[in-house]
Amino acid sequence: MAAYYSDEIVSEVLQANDIVDIVSGYVRLKRTGSSLMGCCPFHREKTPSFHVSADKQLYHCFGCGAGGGVIQFIMNAEGLDFPDALRFLADRAGIRLPENDGSRDEEKYKRKHKMYEMNKDAARYFRECLLSPEGKVAQEYLTKRQLDGKTIAAFGLGWAPGGWDGLLKNLRDKGYDRSLLVDAGLCIMNDKGHVYDRFRERVMFPIFDVRGNITGFTGRILSGDAAKYMNSPESMVFDKGKNLYGLNLAKKSTRGYYILVEGNMDVISLHQAGINAAVAACGTAFTRDQAKLLSKSPVYLCFDSDGAGQKALERAAEIFKEFETPLKVIEMPDVKDPDDFIKKYGAEAFETLIKKAKTLTEHRMDMLLRGIDLNDTAQKIEMLGKASKLFSGISNAVEREVYVTRLSAKTGISPDAINSEIRKTNAKNVRKEVSADLRKAVGVGTEVRKQNKRRQVAEAGFLAMLSESSKVYTQFADKFGEDSFSEEIHRQIFNHICTYYKEEKQGTCQEYLMGAMPGHEREISTVLMSVQNVSDTIRAAQDFAQAIENEIFNEKLQKAQAEGNLQLISELLKSRKQNG
Ligand code: CTP
Ligand code: MN
Repeated sequence: MAAYYSDEIVSEVLQANDIVDIVSGYVRLKRTGSSLMGCCPFHREKTPSFHVSADKQLYHCFGCGAGGGVIQFIMNAEGLDFPDALRFLADRAGIRLPENDGSRDEEKYKRKHKMYEMNKDAARYFRECLLSPEGKVAQEYLTKRQLDGKTIAAFGLGWAPGGWDGLLKNLRDKGYDRSLLVDAGLCIMNDKGHVYDRFRERVMFPIFDVRGNITGFTGRILSGDAAKYMNSPESMVFDKGKNLYGLNLAKKSTRGYYILVEGNMDVISLHQAGINAAVAACGTAFTRDQAKLLSKSPVYLCFDSDGAGQKALERAAEIFKEFETPLKVIEMPDVKDPDDFIKKYGAEAFETLIKKAKTLTEHRMDMLLRGIDLNDTAQKIEMLGKASKLFSGISNAVEREVYVTRLSAKTGISPDAINSEIRKTNAKNVRKEVSADLRKAVGVGTEVRKQNKRRQVAEAGFLAMLSESSKVYTQFADKFGEDSFSEEIHRQIFNHICTYYKEEKQGTCQEYLMGAMPGHEREISTVLMSVQNVSDTIRAAQDFAQAIENEIFNEKLQKAQAEGNLQLISELLKSRKQNG
């Protein structure tokens, strides 16, 4: 992709866009000493671990590992691909990119922008309709659902009136062409080529992405047999599996967690009640992309209490597993969904539900007990089998004990009996475990792991210093080789930096690396930002080099010791004495 644009152009755009300026538009940066820090915009955090370096023109988050240069920042922050991000920065700096360079992308980018604009205009139109006399039915409906004016405005709710071309006319008058209207899914073209409004007589919910762009709409009928909700079809800008309803607002919540619910009405209701961490998958089965969006914070699952809701909950829990997201389950008594709960019991009561949220295991255990007749032995045995399977997955003995005790208290089955059942279940898994233990025994122990970590840190530090000063290069060029690095990525970075100095490449070393190793911006920033604000680069480089040598020495020595190679051991020790 980068090949669309020449290095000169990329370099010109980079020079015109200082990373500190750009990032400051998204993140509140604070200067501590000579470094700039803030809260990472790419994951949720309360204590800043997002660093920006003006010297290196790099950013790096020590929390989530995000990193790169100004182009990667815009790619991530604006969700653009490389050419679009470059264009974004070029536009900002008033640089004209060459005409036929990546013109297809330019067209796509323009059309996307136009679509966002049009969706915004559509939302305006729907809102005007809602506030006009013809929207009275919808106003009444929303009042009946107890939404106040402020909430209606915050979520941009509107009304699509009856008739076939209200929106069509409105947007045509504003200069949008038919094909864009159809592509965005606001209008439908029938097989005779006739174009008409998709949403008619529906309460309209705009769907915002995290950046506040309207990507699509959901429309709810007031009554009748037609499908209750109708969604925009997928478009250039709308991919419902990649977004969550309410996320644009929930991201700003200071609660530090998300509440995942099923319906958009649930989201709105919760936000109105001050519970502003709610989001919904909104008409799709929960997806991995959606889980990823939430995965950095604890997530409270609050699904409808019916069978379908519980199935959806288990599915979501399964999807979250990969991300190791801490999960809790909010259980609602005798109501269908969070919206109903708030109406019936109020916001305070929901806060209590949050506090009383269960762990996933607890929830699952209670579900096993639901509707079971404990006097029926067969049912009891079946339940015990399932519970022991559930518990045998818990590796922490204390935690397991807690659940065993709880189940015992609830069922009257003795802890011994439950534990014995768990052992039986475990026995079945024994083969798997043995091989895992074996791997652990012969594999890396903690000491070795710590050592690897020390070496990694020293390598990264050395490379950071090397990238900063050609003097480091001159001093170490012949002392260091590929063997000095334990990580393939470090080796690559080392080789490229050497090439940069040897061949006297244009631009800064960081810029050169970014260009030479496309797709590795993250790793590059991790390495180059690993040490910052060093006053004496040479001295620091020496220290890191020494540390690397020490680690290499220790590794050799350990290996010799493990092999019982006495001669090698004594040689190693002697060589160390000589080298000081
Ligand atoms: N949904 C949909 N199409 C349907 C029914 C539901 O796309 N025919 C989606 C909607 O996004 C809805 C969610 O699934 O918000 C949950 O459905 P449901 O629980 O039936 O809706 P509620 O949010 O409870 O809506 P309401 O309270 O307005 O009935
Ligand atoms: Mn509902």
